Amino acid sequence: MARPPGLLQALCVLMVGWALVHCQVGREEEVEEDGVEEEEERTPSTVEPEMTHCPEDCSCKAEGAVDCAGVDLSEFPGDLSENTRQLSLQNNQIREVTVEQLSRLHLLETLNLQNNRLTSQGLEDEGFEMLDRLSYLYLANNKLTAAPRLLPSSLVSADFAANQLTKVYPNTFGQKPRLKSVYLHNNKLTDAGLPENMFNGSDSVEILIMSSNFLRYVPKNLPSSIYRLHFKNNKLEKIPHQAFSSLSQLRELYLQNNLLSNDGMDNETFSHLSSLEYLDLSNNNLSAVPKGLPRGLVLLHLEKNSIHSIAADVLTPVRNLEYLLLHNNKLRSRNIHHMAFQGLKKLHTLHMYNNLLERVPRGLPRRAKTLMLLHNLISEINRNDLALLYTLTELNLSYNKITSPRMHKEAFRKLRLLESLDLSGNSLHVLPVGLPKSLQVLKVKDNQLNSISDGALGSMSKLREINLSNNQLKLSSFYQGAWQGLSSLTVLDLSGNQLSHVPVDLPETLEYLYLQSNRISSVPASAFESTPNIKGIFLRYNRLSANAVVESAFSHLMNLQVLDVGPTSTRPTHEDDLEEETDEEEEEIEEDGQ
Ligand SMILES: *[C@@H]1O[C@H](CO)[C@@H](O)[C@H](O)[C@H]1NC(C)=O
Ligand SMILES: *[C@@H]1O[C@H](CO)[C@@H](O)[C@H](O)[C@H]1NC(C)=O
Ligand SMILES: *[C@@H]1O[C@H](CO)[C@@H](O)[C@H](O)[C@H]1NC(C)=O
Ligand SMILES: *[C@@H]1O[C@H](CO)[C@@H](O)[C@H](O)[C@H]1NC(C)=O
Ligand SMILES: *[C@@H]1O[C@H](CO)[C@@H](O)[C@H](O)[C@H]1NC(C)=O
Repeated sequence: MARPPGLLQALCVLMVGWALVHCQVGREEEVEEDGVEEEEERTPSTVEPEMTHCPEDCSCKAEGAVDCAGVDLSEFPGDLSENTRQLSLQNNQIREVTVEQLSRLHLLETLNLQNNRLTSQGLEDEGFEMLDRLSYLYLANNKLTAAPRLLPSSLVSADFAANQLTKVYPNTFGQKPRLKSVYLHNNKLTDAGLPENMFNGSDSVEILIMSSNFLRYVPKNLPSSIYRLHFKNNKLEKIPHQAFSSLSQLRELYLQNNLLSNDGMDNETFSHLSSLEYLDLSNNNLSAVPKGLPRGLVLLHLEKNSIHSIAADVLTPVRNLEYLLLHNNKLRSRNIHHMAFQGLKKLHTLHMYNNLLERVPRGLPRRAKTLMLLHNLISEINRNDLALLYTLTELNLSYNKITSPRMHKEAFRKLRLLESLDLSGNSLHVLPVGLPKSLQVLKVKDNQLNSISDGALGSMSKLREINLSNNQLKLSSFYQGAWQGLSSLTVLDLSGNQLSHVPVDLPETLEYLYLQSNRISSVPASAFESTPNIKGIFLRYNRLSANAVVESAFSHLMNLQVLDVGPTSTRPTHEDDLEEETDEEEEEIEEDGQ
């Protein structure tokens, strides 16, 4: 708990002059109390608190701590002890704090005025000058229009989020050697409202949050100690040359939702950020992947730009890249260089959905596990398009323009680890053969399937879920024994097809069977003979008439929880029982749809 004396001495030396005396006098105390967290952990002292009264409606349990949070105060409490070190005034209606009120609390370390009604006129900021132990200052959610001109040099953390600040002064955050975190998001700051060198003499700042303001430029001379820097939701057009060049500790940089174009940055904008792991440039105006990205990046957000090409050498230096998000851009496959992902051995997740890809791009990262290519214009899958993606586990090709003749029979032959494949929303009329045996989830809904090729589902012993909803499948579309090898299948969705009967010989493992919106006109006693474990059967919107559903078809299904034959169909004999059940089912289905 106690700070090593070396550090304490170093602090005293930093605060030479006015602080030296204070360091000696207050030594014992300083060692014990270093902030809010410790304060909270401390067990109540057995010694009677000194004879100071606690302001009405407040509680003063721990020594030096006064808690008046959320007690509807409209004024700063007048009768505070001068020994107050932690003052909680958050969630009140306070409009004004005067110099006199503040300056007598000279031992104050934590001041929480979050969520009040303070205006800049109402906050007499000269009062802060006297608080030479103030470390934590919380002023978020007030109505301040300008930051205080001078905050004490003891400050460690300052929260001014969600005010209406347009102005910050040189000594608001400057000359604070201990300052670590500054929160300024959700204000009205423009470039003109910031001093030339906002953190002059504050060389310990680690966190700076300036999201949701009106900045057009990234401020210059940021402290090199920063590791988290957020500028999202501003009007950034340009990152000045070398604005980030000294930020060797920076790990997380948020620049999303701005107006940055490639002209607004240069090939050295990011290149010195040797600790950067997380860069978010999404929702900007980039037309190309920026140059000079640092090699340590793990996660790169470039989605929602206008990126139309990827050059050979922009991504390849980023050796640690694991996640690359390029969705919602204007990429065409022919504008992605075939060496663009070369050597990116850690890249496992690549999102390229909502682009203009006309085929599977060449040279995709060899170790990719997740590849999202949905909502593109891909019209064919050639024999070798996927042939090098040995480690792929999830491939989503839904909502493209793939037709059966242009889907090569052997296209999937190398994907021995593929677990999830989505081909929904294409123009397939035959379920392709040669799908990987490793598949666990297969979705081919919203196509024009009218045939399942012989053996297409053969020995997929890991397949748990198949969705073939909204196709043109008839019972005769399935080859004999189509379901036989599917020894793990639990969910089968054949809704929205043209089936005239419940399929026979479904696997014993089946738990949910969706058959709604077909042409089924009868359910014979034998319908669910092979599926004793079934929990849900959905038969709504078929052509079932009252006596076409043989009740005994369900009588042996011990796990059946949901039987939905639809609101319009007439029900078999035990009307009361079944009616109740049906009502519940309807509810369940609605919840499912959420
Ligand atoms: C930074 O602070 C030093 C004093 O420590 C001062 O001399 C200098 O003018 C300041 N620079 C700016 C740009 O404010
Ligand atoms: C940046 O580009 C300039 C020319 O445009 C070049 O001289 C410089 O070496 C490049 N820097 C890096 C880090 O690639
Ligand atoms: C986006 O960048 C292009 C240049 O690449 C520029 O012409 C255009 O005005 C920019 N759009 C916005 C909204 O900044
Ligand atoms: C494919 O992506 C879409 C959109 O994100 C998603 O809804 C769908 O579940 C994905 N397919 C699979 C098999 O995960
Ligand atoms: C199958 O796809 C349809 C159509 O998108 C969807 O409504 C249904 O919920 C899916 N089935 C399952 C079991 O997820």
